[in-house]
Amino acid sequence: MADILLRGGRVVDPARNVDASADVLLQNGKVARVEAGIAAAVGTWVVECKDQWVVPGLIDMHTHLREPGQEYKESIETGTAAAAAGGFTAVCAMPNTVPANDTRAVTELVVRRAREVGIVRVYPIGCITQGQKGENLAEMGDLQEAGCVAVSDDGKCVMNSEVMRRALEYARGLKLLVIQHAEDTNLSAGGPAHEGAASTRIGLRGQPAAAESVMVARDLELVALTGARYHVAHASSAETVRLLRDAKRRGLPVTAEVTPHHLTLTDEACAGYDTSTRVNPPLRSQADVDAVRAALADGTIDVVATDHAPHSPVEKDVEFEQAASGMIGLETALALCLELVAANLLTPAALVTRMSAAPAKILGLPGGTLAPGSVADVTVIDPQVAWTCDPSKLRSRSRNTPFGGRAMRGRAMLTVVAGNIVFEEEKLVG
Ligand code: DOR
Ligand code: ZN
Repeated sequence: MADILLRGGRVVDPARNVDASADVLLQNGKVARVEAGIAAAVGTWVVECKDQWVVPGLIDMHTHLREPGQEYKESIETGTAAAAAGGFTAVCAMPNTVPANDTRAVTELVVRRAREVGIVRVYPIGCITQGQKGENLAEMGDLQEAGCVAVSDDGKCVMNSEVMRRALEYARGLKLLVIQHAEDTNLSAGGPAHEGAASTRIGLRGQPAAAESVMVARDLELVALTGARYHVAHASSAETVRLLRDAKRRGLPVTAEVTPHHLTLTDEACAGYDTSTRVNPPLRSQADVDAVRAALADGTIDVVATDHAPHSPVEKDVEFEQAASGMIGLETALALCLELVAANLLTPAALVTRMSAAPAKILGLPGGTLAPGSVADVTVIDPQVAWTCDPSKLRSRSRNTPFGGRAMRGRAMLTVVAGNIVFEEEKLVG
């Protein structure tokens, strides 16, 4: 592995309060130095980063890699290639695979496959309950020992309050984060869209925003009871934001994420019945979008996570009501979040906090900073380059994105994991 010198970029490292022009030297898989005017030794690869941002590698704490069991949608190999192209140096793999990641054997398989074919780091997330059935707790201790960094039944909500209480108590003893897909399924009743004016007009069954916030409210009571660390997956509604803000004010150990699509699209995007706009939770009203944007800006929502959810034409080329929920997101997330920077909603430092430093801190992962001595996981971002999203060119095995044809500005130019270049957009290395 050659040493790499990232020269003359804008180094944005909010974990150390750094936002300044500097060179970054990567040696032996670690960040060696961050200073102005580092001389390149013979044999060092020099990357000119003028007008680029040099940031700690992006970390996606909510990715569906679909392996094992649904490799026709995505695999660890294709999913991590998409991640690298999107500027991510690490992804957390959600456990709703086939079989679900509810045992040590499945976690070990994911870890081994990631080591064999993974292009970026993969951190498995284990199930909260066996088979994600919401009945009996999974062996969280085993899952953690095998490499799981959190537990979640994502895709499903832990509906039974007593089971959720036990899950939080058990996870607390292990210091494991519990990530909830907050959805009261009696209230949502499989509604494929957000309940509101748009769903009424276009004739889709709606699920109310309260299906999410009812569950968040319940869970916050259980967090107060148990003291466990709790994280809301894909927060999407104004009321959820209000509850989170209040919970943080009370000092509860609560964090939350929002997806790029819930930050940038409203329920009006479903008006053309494009099934790639069917996601769960559904795209919400403008008022909800405004609320999650404000919450991301003020830190009430800690993290942007993609909920990259690949599906094949088998699941998506059907009626909206029948279609599977989910859209891919790894290769569009950064550009969509850069729209928030361009709109002055986020500073570059806040963007890097939400996409790297915060997920690293919440999950206790390496990275999230360019402090000398830390892992050489680095993303070089061109914040200005214009490009158009062409689904046929994406690395993901699936194509289910509503962002095809969207004019984007800004993208990852270079992605480095442990000092190795895993993605390069164009000739930058000289
Ligand atoms: O839209 C979604 N897709 N939401 C989820 O919670 C699960 C995910 C999936 O696995 O497809
Ligand atoms: Zn989910």
